[in-house]
Amino acid sequence: MKSPFIVFKGGKIATPLGVRRADVLVDSKSGRILRISSHILSKGARAINCHSLILLPGAIDPHVHMRDPEDTSKESFSTGTASALSGGVTTIIDMPCYRNPATTTIPAYNKKRAIARKKCRCDYQLRFGASERNQKEAARSNSPSLKVFLADTGSELSCSYAAAARHFAAFPKEKPICVHAEDSARINARKLRFVEHEKVRDKISAQIACEKALKFAARAGRRRIHMCHLTTAKEVDMCRRHQNATYEINPAHLHLCIDDLRDLGFLGKVNPPLRDRTEMKRLWRKVGDDTIMASDHAPHLPRQKKSGAPGFPGVGTLLPLMLQAVHSRKLTLPRLARITSYNAARAFSLSGKGEIAEGKDADIVLVDMARKWRISAKNRLSKCGWTPFEGAEIYGKIEGVYLRGRLAYDGKKVLSRAGNGKEVK
Ligand code: NCD
Ligand code: ZN
Ligand code: ZN
Ligand code: ZN
Repeated sequence: MKSPFIVFKGGKIATPLGVRRADVLVDSKSGRILRISSHILSKGARAINCHSLILLPGAIDPHVHMRDPEDTSKESFSTGTASALSGGVTTIIDMPCYRNPATTTIPAYNKKRAIARKKCRCDYQLRFGASERNQKEAARSNSPSLKVFLADTGSELSCSYAAAARHFAAFPKEKPICVHAEDSARINARKLRFVEHEKVRDKISAQIACEKALKFAARAGRRRIHMCHLTTAKEVDMCRRHQNATYEINPAHLHLCIDDLRDLGFLGKVNPPLRDRTEMKRLWRKVGDDTIMASDHAPHLPRQKKSGAPGFPGVGTLLPLMLQAVHSRKLTLPRLARITSYNAARAFSLSGKGEIAEGKDADIVLVDMARKWRISAKNRLSKCGWTPFEGAEIYGKIEGVYLRGRLAYDGKKVLSRAGNGKEVK
């Protein structure tokens, strides 16, 4: 019998407060980190030599669309969480489905939970969806958070400002309401004048909706609000002025701008859109200790992209892109640990997650910062079959991903099976 104990020997552990070299003792039976100390005897345990590696807390991606059960021809809990593990993400929070059925009713939510339990390879939580009229049902749903779309989605899953304000009042105040903020009225007016996606859904559309959402949240009292995929520096400033707000940035908006549309073509469409290079740089400068990175993993098949579907796959490239940013000195390791894990665990109350610390879940990512590798759709494992970062050569190779003390990805293959993932309370 293999020992349930593992000692990660001599690696550099990244925590929000600093980097320290130590051994980490893990019990793969309980799934917990038992001890962190400068020298742990590995007698009777399996020892893993980590002297040339960084140990990161498993990344948390709090904004993904795994498309299950909505449209499993482009992704599913099984394929999407395989992609997550290949990129060091050990916990995801999945967004509500738009249809088939929309996750805006309690039966649809429970059905989705049953599917996730069978198919997820990493840990997860599911988010309920707000519609124009389901305020009471959303509040009764037991969902740990709620998604409000202040933008037309061509489905039930969207809200007018008035309906959103009623959700802000009705949903439990301590649970975050996550908002996609773009102003529909302004967008619709601009559709008549412009064809370019970024000119139609411009920065001001995002800023107007962001400001209104924060204002309505403030009126609802001490309401927790979380602003999704911010694309402008101004929105980050708005959130920072608000007491109970958190916010997320998609690494795609830090690494791609409208100049990249020349190469990406129809693949480059996303909501909110890629901005100009100046704004992209401004947004980078806003990344701080309060930032939460989220990929908004939004897989579509190439032919659907060709006919205008917005969104990028991203759960498998979130941590790799930010590791490359560490390599190029845009980010320190402690800040990386914060913005890819610690902050999301706090914002969404993910117990046991977010840190390499005694008593926490043994979700650990081993990274060789000196190793270069190439991003491709093939090694990112999303069913959609493409990535906007195809061919990019980056530093920081993920050599192993442990989920609750078990090897879930070995640097090449996903070993965690469908159903291994647990719902995080
Ligand atoms: C997302 C999708 O495809 O579900 N698309 C996108 O462009 N981001 C929806 C969303 O997050 O707004
Ligand atoms: Zn040592
Ligand atoms: Zn969105
Ligand atoms: Zn989204």
